[in-house]
Amino acid sequence: MEPLIIRGNILFTPRRGELRALPRGYAVCRGGVCLGAFQSLPGEYRGIPVTDYGDALIIPGLVDLHIHAPQYAFRGTGMDCELLEWLKRYTFPEEARYVDLDYATRAYSLFAKQMKNSATTRAVIFGTVHREATLLLMDLMEETGLISYVGKVNMDRDAPDELREPSPEASAFDTFGFINVALRRGYRRTRPILTPRFIPSCSDALLRELSEVRRAYDLPVQSHLSENPEEVALVKRLVPSAAFYGEGYERFGLFGGEARTVMAHCVYSTEAEVERIRKNGVWVAHCPNSNLNICSGIAPVRRYLEAGIRVGLGSDVAGGQTESMFRAVTDAIQVSKVRWRYLDPEARPLSFPEGLYLATKGGGSFFGRVGSFEPGYEFDAVVLDDFILPHPYPMTLAERLERAVYLGLDREGIRAKYVGGCCQFQYTE
Ligand code: GUN
Ligand code: FE
Repeated sequence: MEPLIIRGNILFTPRRGELRALPRGYAVCRGGVCLGAFQSLPGEYRGIPVTDYGDALIIPGLVDLHIHAPQYAFRGTGMDCELLEWLKRYTFPEEARYVDLDYATRAYSLFAKQMKNSATTRAVIFGTVHREATLLLMDLMEETGLISYVGKVNMDRDAPDELREPSPEASAFDTFGFINVALRRGYRRTRPILTPRFIPSCSDALLRELSEVRRAYDLPVQSHLSENPEEVALVKRLVPSAAFYGEGYERFGLFGGEARTVMAHCVYSTEAEVERIRKNGVWVAHCPNSNLNICSGIAPVRRYLEAGIRVGLGSDVAGGQTESMFRAVTDAIQVSKVRWRYLDPEARPLSFPEGLYLATKGGGSFFGRVGSFEPGYEFDAVVLDDFILPHPYPMTLAERLERAVYLGLDREGIRAKYVGGCCQFQYTE
């Protein structure tokens, strides 16, 4: 198979904190796998056609480790309360509508269209409890070209009647059905993931059932953890014997180790919980925009990074108001400064290269070797035209990229997008 070669200003973060820039360089891939990024084209690739993006910036695709597809429709509204009340007043009533496939089709089509046009190339996605609507979401995600995990949500308590599954067995049965159909449909890019919503919505009996489903299919797991003070207090009441919130999942083998797991938020993880997250290799999806909107707080990301914990970023729409991962990078950096200034003078704020690393290679590791242009990485790339952001003096590539991210160039500045070595779209000048 002939390699694919693209040319432009190539930027990526091989290590946290290191932004590598290759002005008018080359990125080469074959069979979806990166062969490397080069300042000048190695002789062996001479004569192969090059797609030249001129002065555009080329970066690895962005990875959203945590987003709720059914909440996309009401993003940017209902931002007047904290997590638990927000769930009750806005989120659960909206998610209940997805029992109606016509509604699900209309709403999920909007979501899928935006994901396709965004800078996001990989995503880990919550659906609703509804099996059919979640399968429909998978069909739509498959067409976007993104590579994603999509989960049918499980919840058997503490939810309105329309959303509460009738029993742990019924919830597990539906989940088996969901996984079976999802696997039979033979998607190339879209995979199922086990999705117990959070401890307040999942009884022990349900988690026990799900642990069997997980083992049967060797599925990854996504959920929420230690997000908000009221929620953490509620979990303490619900599972008084647990030494920390995450133990509620861990008892059932749903907290890392053999189960590849991503937990969103981790704002209030105790020392014991942090240690277990690290030991079990759980990914933390840091969702700064959501943590601001629904008053959760600021996660101690610097601490996690220093402890060697795997961290990526999540938009957490609609706790977060936007699916923009450029916004997530900006917010992660900004809230790290607030935390440092007010709470934790030892915890140095994130730098721009660190923020970008979290949104690419950091979260990308949940998918394997993803989020970099190093050899052996799956080839996801976003080409950005920043000429729409004119400037009066010459800027370095690092400055141009930082500005593109802070000014939200993922809205109208995306010129092309590649996922797994395939061009998903490309605008010609
Ligand atoms: N915890 C349980 N469900 C949710 C949700 O939908 N969004 C957020 N941010 N936290 C949750
Ligand atoms: Fe969430």
